[in-house]
Amino acid sequence: MSTIEGLGGWKRTTRCGALRADAIGEEVVLMGWVHRIRDHGGVFFLNLRDRDGLAQVVVHPDTVDPALLDKVRSVRPEFVLAVRGMVGSRPEEMRNPEMPTGDVEVAATDLRILSTSETPPFVIGGEVEAGEDLRLQYRYLDLRSEELQKILALRSRAALEARTYLAENDFWEIETPMLVRPTPEGARDYLVPSRIHEGSFYALPQSPQLYKQTLMVAGVDRYFQLARCLRDEDLRADRQPEHTQIDIEMSFVEEDDVFGLAEGLMERIFQSCLGVRIPRPFPRLAYREAMDRYGSDKPDLRFDLPLVDLSEAVAGSDFRVFRETLEAGGSVKGLVVPGGGELSRREQDELEAHVKTYGAKGLARAKVGPKGLEGGFAKFLDAPATDRLLEASGARDGDLIGVVADRKPVVDRSLGALRLRVGQAALGEEARREWRFLWVHRFPLFERDETSGQVVPAHHMFTMPLEEDIPKLGTDPLAVHARLYDLVLNGTELASGSIRIHRRDLQEAVMEVVGIDREEAERRFGFLLRAFEYGAPPHGGLAIGFDRVVMLMAGRTSIRDTIAFPKTTSAASLMDEAPAPVDPETLKELHLRIEESR
Ligand code: AMO
Ligand code: AMP
Repeated sequence: MSTIEGLGGWKRTTRCGALRADAIGEEVVLMGWVHRIRDHGGVFFLNLRDRDGLAQVVVHPDTVDPALLDKVRSVRPEFVLAVRGMVGSRPEEMRNPEMPTGDVEVAATDLRILSTSETPPFVIGGEVEAGEDLRLQYRYLDLRSEELQKILALRSRAALEARTYLAENDFWEIETPMLVRPTPEGARDYLVPSRIHEGSFYALPQSPQLYKQTLMVAGVDRYFQLARCLRDEDLRADRQPEHTQIDIEMSFVEEDDVFGLAEGLMERIFQSCLGVRIPRPFPRLAYREAMDRYGSDKPDLRFDLPLVDLSEAVAGSDFRVFRETLEAGGSVKGLVVPGGGELSRREQDELEAHVKTYGAKGLARAKVGPKGLEGGFAKFLDAPATDRLLEASGARDGDLIGVVADRKPVVDRSLGALRLRVGQAALGEEARREWRFLWVHRFPLFERDETSGQVVPAHHMFTMPLEEDIPKLGTDPLAVHARLYDLVLNGTELASGSIRIHRRDLQEAVMEVVGIDREEAERRFGFLLRAFEYGAPPHGGLAIGFDRVVMLMAGRTSIRDTIAFPKTTSAASLMDEAPAPVDPETLKELHLRIEESR
């Protein structure tokens, strides 16, 4: 049994990870966690860890008193210690060039056990992958790993840089409420029952959208907030029920102003957090072009691999699938897989399975050989059609051409997914580390929801239509373009924003298109509509997904790794077991009754 001691007036002099050769000959006091302890024939080697790294502590049996040795013998991994000792040079053969503190060690003269520890359920920062559920349950242990500590530090730094940059650019940081009126913006709201107003609910904000626009009417001119946003939606690797946005709104601006500001912000964050210079201005691509060429509104531009339209090339071919699709007004497009002629049958089938998960009915294939097209659909094309296809696709000897025939949205979506898979798999080490930012703009204002068939806003309904398209609102809403833009980085949507509507009549007209009549508009958004009647300046802005920025900078594939206490894909927190039932008394106070679902 180890006795736990207090600090006893000891003061830490140095962080473990900061110990360097310049401290040789000095007495130091380190405090930290026992990463590892080894007994080399009576000489104890302890690796002591804190958020900056590891330092080696040695306890020589012949230079310390026996009581101290007894204490050391009781030490286990993850005990918290304070160690007093002399910094010395490590013997040549024991130097560790992999460790920043690898040239030195601390010969302990005294030691206090500040805290003991159970055997942790997994090795901290260990090679052996513990299951994610276990690591989330013991998140405070997982967070001790060097990797996650680095991400926390990176996130903190990025937030600081964002704040500094925005302050330098004349922005005010303003907090908007967390208890808001339920006005779903797209996802489902998290609701909070009111105790005082029986039967009424607050919602947790999906974003500060309505408030930041109201702040523009209030004359704030330039607002930002590191805003927590809460959405009850289906979760994925890049989506959490709680996420953080760098939320920005500006008055008297147009697209170029917002782009310039956001580019400067990204430049600053990447420069100071990673030391990389990102080239500006970022390229811009119209939504239509992005879909046609890359099959995605968030294309990864670290590789080109454009989709090629083969509709004309294969028109009149004998292949039933192509012919019937074109006759029905569909589209036939292909993707050239460079060197894909070498892929085995099974590998090709995997590519087909991939496009099928995006709704394609199949992936027709042919190889390019020295004499032209071979195998697969090649036999259905005559010589002129083959030539047209090779010309249109630019495919060369050794390539594979994969073709999807279907309705255009299905073709674009499925081949876009195939492009991403093929392109990312082939990325070289250097290309993988490139940062390819891209603005996608000129989105449609509305789209048709595939399941309900209803016209819904492509982003949100506060987006300004393109001036020349306003007359089409009443007649052909799906043809209306929006002053809407997304910022994309390496295939991830980082930010979204728009120039906003600032006139009540136009706002009501847009709401009407999506089925919100005057009365409902007044009930849900009355305060904003009314604000527009009292001198609303032209304004616009955007919100940057902060978790995603940190995820990409840290080279991770899940935003869970960038959030100190994330939720699982079923929106649960395994550490504190949220959500949890509450007692009947509490429910009663809130005027709620739980109905058992059958
Ligand atoms: P939007 O809903 O597109 O826009 O969100 C802006 C950015 O926030 C990030 N993001 C998320 N990150 C993690 N988990 C989520 N569940 C999640 N949802 C969104 C994305 C996204 O690009 N009010 C508007 C912004 C505006 O118009 O100014 C808004 O919230 O990176
Ligand atoms: P089938 O005629 O359905 O046996 O398909 C013959 C080949 O065409 C298979 O390789 C399918 O993967 C492919 N195929 C079927 N439907 C499509 C489609 N809509 N687009 C592209 N290829 C398809």
